[in-house]
Amino acid sequence: MPQDQFDGRPVIGVCNTWSELTPCNTHFRVLADHVRHGILEAGGFPLEFPVMSLGETLLRPTAMLYRNLASMDAEESIRGNPLDGVVLLGGCDKTTPSILMGAASVDLPTIFVSGGPMLSGKYRGHDIGSGTNVWSMSEDLRAGKLTLEEFHEAESCMHRSHGHCMTMGTASTMASMIEALGVGMPGNAAYPAVDARRNVLARLAGRRIVQLVKDDVRLAQILTKQAFENAIRANAAIGGSTNAVIHLIAIARRIGVELTLDDWDRVGSGVHTLVNLKPNGEYLMEDFCYAGGLPVVLRELGENGLLHKDALTVNGQILWENVRNAECWNRDVIHSFKSPFKEHTGIAVLRGNLCPDGAIIKPSAATPALMQHRGRAVVFANIEDFHRRIDDPNLEIDERSVMVLQNCGPKGYPGMAEVGNMPLPPKILKRGITDMVRISDARMSGTAYGTVVLHISPEAAAGGTLALVRSGDEIELDVAQRKLQLVVSDSELAARRARWQPPKPALERGYWKLYVDHVLQASDGADLDFLVGSSGAFVPRDNH
Ligand code: FES
Repeated sequence: MPQDQFDGRPVIGVCNTWSELTPCNTHFRVLADHVRHGILEAGGFPLEFPVMSLGETLLRPTAMLYRNLASMDAEESIRGNPLDGVVLLGGCDKTTPSILMGAASVDLPTIFVSGGPMLSGKYRGHDIGSGTNVWSMSEDLRAGKLTLEEFHEAESCMHRSHGHCMTMGTASTMASMIEALGVGMPGNAAYPAVDARRNVLARLAGRRIVQLVKDDVRLAQILTKQAFENAIRANAAIGGSTNAVIHLIAIARRIGVELTLDDWDRVGSGVHTLVNLKPNGEYLMEDFCYAGGLPVVLRELGENGLLHKDALTVNGQILWENVRNAECWNRDVIHSFKSPFKEHTGIAVLRGNLCPDGAIIKPSAATPALMQHRGRAVVFANIEDFHRRIDDPNLEIDERSVMVLQNCGPKGYPGMAEVGNMPLPPKILKRGITDMVRISDARMSGTAYGTVVLHISPEAAAGGTLALVRSGDEIELDVAQRKLQLVVSDSELAARRARWQPPKPALERGYWKLYVDHVLQASDGADLDFLVGSSGAFVPRDNH
């Protein structure tokens, strides 16, 4: 490097989650080059660095187990190196929250650039969406309506370009959260990965980060409580993933914002879903982009008193300035607030003896008739037990039963896998029934749907009441009353609790042990207890 590169120029880190093990992020070297050009054009000095990348499709037992580890990698890389600002590149589900959590604990000037969704899947004249159609086609396969060859062909037609899942799953939700939080540039949520505007956005972000450093605008000035409330409402309006609940709480607590599960219900419930995208609706992210993208949604929220308009964003403007002139080009894809796609949705936070610290359900993905339901529990002790018994024609279950899955929470799995949307038993599917009430301490893929109660806290492996449920117990769900109750007497529960033994950990060394010993419950963001908060950018014992 010529000496003048070091003379007074802001040093900008480009934090890259490129990896061949993360198929959604394999175009990030190109994206990073666009960021680099932008930084150079604005007089900065770019230095790209890799951090642990979390591929949703390949990592076992679940990418979520490693979110906190990747956040530590990002945090220490950003703090330990002589950086003045950072551009974060993320796409696949966990890559976004992990590196933003890490950056939040350092609090340098920061811009996030998402990798963008894949183009729409096209199969036999129909649009098909990642995840969502995999779930539905898997059930068709199990019900004998589809051959394995047809399933494979459809899957290859589904994933035909660079980018992350193009349904409104967790990756698209988190890219939308980035834009709603103001930590990404306008347009961040929806430009497809292969759209030239994605590259332009990356270049503009590269230019902009240099100015943020010069103005000393740190992440804490962007990620305020108001910004998180904007994101919660945006999540409701897009019909976003339940995973955003955990991730946003974890990110907020890194930057010192006390965001709680109850904030999700207080701020977000009752907000209408405006966006007609799978898994709740019909369209895909490419359609969302062409209809105007997230700025249209934020404008609708702002015009209906549901936006903190003066929240600062990384392009230097307040949020309202970015979105006030946004126009919608397709009202079938993005509905107006006066004529919403679904009314009063958001995330509902449930309480009761089964979930004293909370559980959640996404009403927009649920069957309305099942949102008030009382049924007999059919309990699976863990995911192996579920797989062993679900196809058994003698399993005692009918469509009124409540499927209960234990020991799939943060400590129990470990990592809190996306298994909460348990597939229905074949004998029920064959009768044309497509939804039942399912409850667990697990998560659910953002691309999935159904009347699925998730994130029960405390989880079974931590001794929550969920661990005490037995097949045949009655369970009562009432979403309107925010209630989830195990209809068993307190004395009987106390007797069962006295006999309860915690499950043996799968591994007792290394990161798995660190994780299980320190992970917080889902209601607290499932971060590691010692990572909550910020250490800032100062490096103790810096002798230089
Ligand atoms: Fe990466 Fe869905 S597998 S976003």
